[in-house]
Amino acid sequence: MPNLNIKNGNLIFGGCDTTWLAKEFGTPLYVISEEIVKDRCREIRDEFLFKYQNTRAAYASKAFLNLAMCKIVEREGLDLDVVSGGEIYTAIKANFPMERVFFHGNNKAIEELELAINNDVGRIVVDNIWEIELINKIAKEHGKKVKVLFRITPGVEIDTHKYISTGQKDSKFGIPLTENVIFEAVKKGIKYENIELMGFHFHVGSQLFSNESHIGAVERVMVLIKEIKDRFGFVTRELNTGGGYGIYYTHGDDPKPLSYFTDAIMEKIYKKCDELILDIPTVIIEPGRWVIGEAGITLYTIGSIKEIPDIRTYVSVDGGIPDNPRPALYGAKYDAVIANKADEEKNKVVTISGKCCETGDILIWNLKVPEVESGDILAVFSTGAYNYSMSNNYNRIPRPAVVLVNEGNAEIIVERETYDDLIRKDRVPEYLR
Ligand SMILES: Cc1ncc(COP(=O)(O)O)c(C=O)c1O
Repeated sequence: MPNLNIKNGNLIFGGCDTTWLAKEFGTPLYVISEEIVKDRCREIRDEFLFKYQNTRAAYASKAFLNLAMCKIVEREGLDLDVVSGGEIYTAIKANFPMERVFFHGNNKAIEELELAINNDVGRIVVDNIWEIELINKIAKEHGKKVKVLFRITPGVEIDTHKYISTGQKDSKFGIPLTENVIFEAVKKGIKYENIELMGFHFHVGSQLFSNESHIGAVERVMVLIKEIKDRFGFVTRELNTGGGYGIYYTHGDDPKPLSYFTDAIMEKIYKKCDELILDIPTVIIEPGRWVIGEAGITLYTIGSIKEIPDIRTYVSVDGGIPDNPRPALYGAKYDAVIANKADEEKNKVVTISGKCCETGDILIWNLKVPEVESGDILAVFSTGAYNYSMSNNYNRIPRPAVVLVNEGNAEIIVERETYDDLIRKDRVPEYLR
């Protein structure tokens, strides 16, 4: 894991002693390394944006978003991919340049589209035919012309969990490449006065270690681009190839450098443009997990330890489903260490359980640890993506704080929720008082 080391037996992350972070800010605690995020952004610039002409990279903010993250993303020269009014609002409040925002989603609400259109988001990524009509209507009402991409489902095989696989034809996302559907959509995109069709988008899935799905999707979309040029004389100016690049969670994961994906994507696009005599479009990538996943760890305090002889030992922590629903949701796997015993020999195998009333609230099965005691601090790795952003208040447990660390400095970027926060929106009808 990058940005990690051990000092006096304690795990150091982003130059900060994690046991000190736990004491200072409490647990559970999300910790994000600014340095790792910046390193990833630098890799995107060097290996993609500067290497290839007419390219853009949008950070998929669903992975992790708050005001500070918007600021980092903007400073690092990336665009922003959003999927909800809440993410748009966060970008607006962070003064993120709205022309650099891509607005996605398979069921954008009218109010969300109005918010996007009134704030001049750069692109709306249209997910279905119904939405094209709606966007055109709203844009007309507001006297705007909206630049759009059409999200297509390329119909490719994807080697990942089915809950995070999106490129197959049978998907709730995107316009299928069925002739009468896609050409109908394109006709509307060309004809509608308040829409400016810029091109196409696909996102094949997430946590991928092979570039084959991306290459397969490029192949199909380039054929589509050619057909559309021949039929309608429409020249595609932009092609957004989504995100999906895998990261390291546990042994067996085989993450690749960014260029493994982007070089293959660009090579394929250049080849197809040459072969089909097409103009090379502006190419956009949209990684989320790859930017922030390994930049995050979560710290917990260990509480009860229950040994069931000859079966297993449950070591419970002060979080679980509320701060990380992924293991319960789709069997996501994580690695962890006891942060205050980081250099001790691991001679036991335990199961790390959350504190929620769900048998499935298990964070890690069969983790190797040293002798573990109540009060120890557990550090779970690679929790930067889809943890804070998927957090919830199950069992009325307040969400943890998020701390940004960098070279020994630690700053709160999201405050810990309080019990008062939990009841702030509750109302009691008169007759129950
Ligand atoms: C449209 C779109 N773009 C980008 C992403 C980011 O994916 P990842 O975090 O795997 O890079 C997603 C994830 O669901 C997505 O739906």
